[in-house]
Amino acid sequence: MNVMLIGGGGREHAMGWKLRQSPRLTNLLSIPGNPGLAQLGAVFPDIDPTDVEAICDLAIANAIDLVVVGPEAPLAAGLIDALDAAGIRAFGPTRDAARLESSKAFSKDIMQRAGIATAKAATFTDADEAAAYLAQATPPYVVKADGLAAGKGVLVTEGLLAAQGWARSCIAGHFGPAGETVVVEEFLDGREVSVFMLCDGVKAIGLEPARDYKRLLDGARGPNTGGMGSYSPAIDLPENLVETTINDVALPVLRVMEQDGIVFKGFLYVGLMLTADGPKVVEFNCRLGDPETQVVLPRLEEDFLTLIDQAIDGNLPTEPLTWSKDACVNVVLAAPGYPESPETGYPVRGLESIEDAIIFHAGTTLTTDGVVTGGGRVVNVVGTGPTVEAARGVAYRAIDKIRFTGKQNRTDIATN
Ligand code: AMP
Ligand code: GLY
Repeated sequence: MNVMLIGGGGREHAMGWKLRQSPRLTNLLSIPGNPGLAQLGAVFPDIDPTDVEAICDLAIANAIDLVVVGPEAPLAAGLIDALDAAGIRAFGPTRDAARLESSKAFSKDIMQRAGIATAKAATFTDADEAAAYLAQATPPYVVKADGLAAGKGVLVTEGLLAAQGWARSCIAGHFGPAGETVVVEEFLDGREVSVFMLCDGVKAIGLEPARDYKRLLDGARGPNTGGMGSYSPAIDLPENLVETTINDVALPVLRVMEQDGIVFKGFLYVGLMLTADGPKVVEFNCRLGDPETQVVLPRLEEDFLTLIDQAIDGNLPTEPLTWSKDACVNVVLAAPGYPESPETGYPVRGLESIEDAIIFHAGTTLTTDGVVTGGGRVVNVVGTGPTVEAARGVAYRAIDKIRFTGKQNRTDIATN
């Protein structure tokens, strides 16, 4: 099969690496891809992953049998709808189904109708009404832009004036159309965990849980980032978390959407808060987690391509998937200045000397001088071993051999 993969981060490199292991795969094309994906097949760095028309044309020209989508933006841009219309097989939700992530008001409505435990919420398009509602709410206040805002559309604050001001600037267009509707939510207190699955419209099958580390510095200090590391299997999770999330969250959501004539096929990421009253849904994403995917897919002892194929056909297996007992630990190497303003263009040395760890590229660029830093999170270094400690050792020994100016990494991934 000729497979086209959409995206170019560490998550997509891990997806492409896993797809490459399938005996059914002939060619892998990635849009835009990255220098790591370029080692697995053709990449098209100049094509924007939301350029639906260019992607359809390229898929036809390259006799693509299947398109797999990593990030959410192409889904919200209607990529699956366009591929369907062109008769090209693709895995991911249509634009309408992807509103589960791209509209917080839509996902709240589905959750309420499906009877799913989540934060109470109210939706506003009028700044004065939002301000009045906040004035009688209890802090901390949670205010969200309705649409996709690249992870920056949520404010959690103790300050009433800050919450009101933020709602006002959202509605005034600070986030563009994404923020013209705001959702004010009850604050959920607890530990945050995520559950990932594949959905085939009716059924869902869970992936192994992973833990990610969002803060830049050791000991969960410093600014929030896209994720500085991850490991799997995750410990300290409630028993049967994946199973209960499928039964109590995913299946009811799929049913309500189906009643509305919306079939959800694709990856589903359920963000949960483990509150004193039990798990409650914080958000849905129509994608896998990054950097969690980089430690989950190496442990999957199944043909990822076949699994995706089955999901498209509404035919996911009913038995749980098979997983390696080995652990995986991923340490992210970030560019200087990340997350505020990453500096790019520094040569990355030593990647070719790594033998026992897996390198998943994220923000790298290939130049005539070799690989240079090209984004905030530069590479993911994944160690595998019979225990988390062993896997951690492999990852940390490898990162010592990778050098670039201003390299930043946490030293405590998978220790706490
Ligand atoms: P979201 O974009 O909805 O995932 O929100 C981003 C982050 O804000 C979440 O990962 C949480 O850490 C935090 N957050 C969102 N909603 C709530 C809530 N209702 N209570 C507490 N924290 C929240
Ligand atoms: N690791 C969190 C995310 O993918 O959003």
